[in-house]
Amino acid sequence: MDQLDQLVAQAETDFAAAVDGAALETAKARYLGKAGSLTELLKGLGKLDPEARKSAGAEINKAKAAIEALLNARRDALQQAALEAQLAAEALDVTLPGRGAGVGGLHPVVRTLERVEQLFRSIGFDVAEGPEIETDFYNFTALNTPANHPARSMHDTFYLENGEGVMLRTHTSPVQIRAMQAHVEAYKDCDTMPELRVIAPGRVYRVDSDATHSPMFHQVEGLWVGESVSFADLKGVVADFLRSFFESNDLQVRFRPSFFPFTEPSAEIDVAFMSGALKGRWLEIAGCGMVHPNVLRFGGIDPERYTGFAFGMGPDRLTMLRYGVNDLRLFFEGDLRFLGQFR
Ligand code: FA5
Ligand code: MG
Repeated sequence: MDQLDQLVAQAETDFAAAVDGAALETAKARYLGKAGSLTELLKGLGKLDPEARKSAGAEINKAKAAIEALLNARRDALQQAALEAQLAAEALDVTLPGRGAGVGGLHPVVRTLERVEQLFRSIGFDVAEGPEIETDFYNFTALNTPANHPARSMHDTFYLENGEGVMLRTHTSPVQIRAMQAHVEAYKDCDTMPELRVIAPGRVYRVDSDATHSPMFHQVEGLWVGESVSFADLKGVVADFLRSFFESNDLQVRFRPSFFPFTEPSAEIDVAFMSGALKGRWLEIAGCGMVHPNVLRFGGIDPERYTGFAFGMGPDRLTMLRYGVNDLRLFFEGDLRFLGQFR
């Protein structure tokens, strides 16, 4: 039957023209669907007499099988092509250099903080903490710096709106008050109160920025309160600490008279090295002094019976000195080329 051969040839052309699965299904319906050409031919068989029906039926079924085979072959080919396209799109370039896992390390300032903690623990200091968002009371008032005291202007900070006297603390000194209050509370039922010896490391904030000032920096507060603590103890503790910290006899330390509302007398501690990258350059690393009687009172401690010294050190500057870095802001820029040198 010529007609059937033509139909098979036509189907082959149609299937080949189908560029994807959906187009192929549409083409399939034209031949094998409910109203497809072959289906129509099969329906017409009923009108033939039995002999003719038998041979025509066989011919039509042969053509149907041929068309189905063509259909399956085209379906396989399209699937294969789709798979190859996907593989090509997802191909990995195995010749690209790897990114590597990278080796992490502690930030140089964190190393300093750990070292400071270790050295002070070894002489009997505990480590205390306080909040970075602090109240006006702890940051200033309890430190003998009432509202409108001119010393407040040296500590310009970031005040939080709507936060009733709440700010980012400008120093770690508020932890002095918190530590004294906690100590007094812990021993309130005892006849004698043991000495209070704490350091308080942490982040502090000021409106400040140059080679030796960062708007966010670190301090380590130190506080020693007891019945006979003197300025000589302060000098001894600080000098010993600095010698151990820098592991150097090349170090010069000076106590320069200064003023803080919360200590009396007060001093700033400067250090310089007699050799090395920062040779002869004096850098202020701490403020210190004897705790003011008003501050002891705010902490709940009787200033007639107890005395104490306090200091507030700048560990970022200790880190500059230790590693010979001349700009403190480098520590906080997050540049791995810089930080990677301290591993
Ligand atoms: C204070 O903050 C006092 N609270 C210190 C103190 C504590 C005195 C206890 C007496 C008793 P001062 O503003 O000087 O003081 O800061 C202390 C140290 O922090 C400085 O010596 C310096 O090393 C460091 N420092 C201050 N401002 C910055 C800054 N912007 N960036 C980095 N380090 C700073
Ligand atoms: Mg100072």
